[in-house]
Amino acid sequence: MRYAEELIEEVRERNDIVDVISSYVSLKKKGSSYFGLCPFHNEKSPSFSVSREKQMYYCFGCGQGGNVYTFLMEYNRLSFVEAMQELADRVGVELPQQEQSPQEKQEADTKVILKEMNKAAAVYFHWQLLHSKRGEKALEYLNKRGITMEMIKHFGLGYADLYRDDLYQYLRKKGYTDQQMKDSSLVTIDSVKGSYDKFFNRVMFPIMDVNQRVVGFGGRVMGDGEPKYLNSKETILFDKGRNLYGLNYARRSREKNIILCEGYMDVISLHMAGFTNAVAPLGTAFTSGQAMLLKRYTEEVILSFDSDGAGIKAALRALPILREAGLRGKVVSMKPYKDPDELIKQEGREAFIKRLEEAESGRMFELVVLHGQYNQNDPESRTEFIRQMAQKLAGIEEAMERSTYINAAANRFMVNEKDLTKLVNRYGIGYQYEKVNETYKKDPETREKAKQRKEDMKVQPQRLLLTWLIERPYIYDSIKKYVGPNDFLLPLHHSVAMMVFDQLESGQEIVPARILDKFTDAEEQKEVAALFNARLKYEPDAEKDDKALTDVVRKVKMASIEDEMARTGDIVRWQELITLKNKIQKLQIHTNL
Ligand code: UTP
Ligand code: MN
Repeated sequence: MRYAEELIEEVRERNDIVDVISSYVSLKKKGSSYFGLCPFHNEKSPSFSVSREKQMYYCFGCGQGGNVYTFLMEYNRLSFVEAMQELADRVGVELPQQEQSPQEKQEADTKVILKEMNKAAAVYFHWQLLHSKRGEKALEYLNKRGITMEMIKHFGLGYADLYRDDLYQYLRKKGYTDQQMKDSSLVTIDSVKGSYDKFFNRVMFPIMDVNQRVVGFGGRVMGDGEPKYLNSKETILFDKGRNLYGLNYARRSREKNIILCEGYMDVISLHMAGFTNAVAPLGTAFTSGQAMLLKRYTEEVILSFDSDGAGIKAALRALPILREAGLRGKVVSMKPYKDPDELIKQEGREAFIKRLEEAESGRMFELVVLHGQYNQNDPESRTEFIRQMAQKLAGIEEAMERSTYINAAANRFMVNEKDLTKLVNRYGIGYQYEKVNETYKKDPETREKAKQRKEDMKVQPQRLLLTWLIERPYIYDSIKKYVGPNDFLLPLHHSVAMMVFDQLESGQEIVPARILDKFTDAEEQKEVAALFNARLKYEPDAEKDDKALTDVVRKVKMASIEDEMARTGDIVRWQELITLKNKIQKLQIHTNL
């Protein structure tokens, strides 16, 4: 389901990208582009560029890029159609009614209704807390726990009354049907027991997604009782593995890292103490989906879990997940306190800052825990510890990092460094062999990926040539007799090449944003945006430039010829290709500029 291309173009053209992005990111003009701090990753100096000419944005830091549609889709997590609707609204373009499949329509409608209903419930709970008689008790509870009014409002905390169906009645009056309420998981509809609220007599924590929309709730009993926290079930709006409590604020904190703690109360205390970069999972263990989400905003995650055994276990589970997502993990200790909430209450903000500074690297934390599991006074047990440690160290892929850790571990656990290095190297060979074998066996995809990497080497010149054509269209005349769109082997590059060659041939100016519109898949858009924004190494020397261009054209052509040779069964064509190959070897390009 797509709008007509002309309409997509019209809406895009009428929404100047600099204007649109300016309302989200503060931009400064620098040369022909605008620059600002990238909203897609954390940075101190601006590498996020927006070009009015190209009607595109591109971040030289993280590689995110695209046109005005992509920006809204990424920034506000919208679908293409939603982004289009927003932009059309912005400039007053009326869009035709969409043809949706009945299923699509139903899902979209349900989502809209659930969003509204969650918001209505949050407003209702919040009102109960602040203004109802029975809410006073809940307010007192929160006050006693040291939560200020400002924080209650900031996080939209609430109170679910002790009647078993007051929310149900409230939502019914607002016109929601039983089925809709059932979809929201806020109300249990039971044909025998009737309809009753999921949450009653609890302090309520609305859970917001990154765009500040309420997607679910956590509710705490006041005092003792089971379960201590009750959480909304997953709905089509609420994916627990892809949301984090507090991220709606933490994403804007501009700290260089994110603090991951265990629960709602930790997040609130930390924000209250000025650590607005704190988040927590939603009553389940930390997931790789959450790690990916964090990766969009930071490079480093500081684990600030409870100091008990469960907290240590949780940290040990979370660290590899962070590593897998390419995030640096660190661990802070809360001892002798139970959790960050308690530590800050007892010792205050400065003490927590100090703890953050002393945070242990994830790998060292793992070794310290391992150390604690063995009796260091028993030679046999200690030897086993050292073996285990060496195996862990052998798993560090980068040589430099590995030797740094060997050195640190040798000092810390008083092991002879040379011996430890030897042991690590011994495990290293076996380990790597085993790992490769294991992944190969387990995962045919890895084999594919290895093949893929080889392919990439072949594809690189093609990508470069495309960028070159886009950046310096004047080379077109000198290369068009040698290469054409069909020499670009990947479907994506081929499509871009078709458009670029077409526009160059007809003497048109290349409009990057228009070309980008032809791609709907986010990955594809990213790749195309990169083509338009790659920086070519500039050779002031025309002769050297020609040499480089010749080399690239030759590589592109060779790959293309070889590709055809592998496919053709026609002996005559095969002969032609061999001749062509010889000719290409001798090719020289002169751009005369
Ligand atoms: P904790 O038991 O550590 O709670 O659970 P807490 O954050 O310290 O809260 P207070 O200070 O006692 O009020 C940590 C997190 O685990 C989830 C919640 O998300 C909670 O914030 N949890 C805990 C549940 O989902 N259900 C439970 O029954 C308990
Ligand atoms: Mn806790």
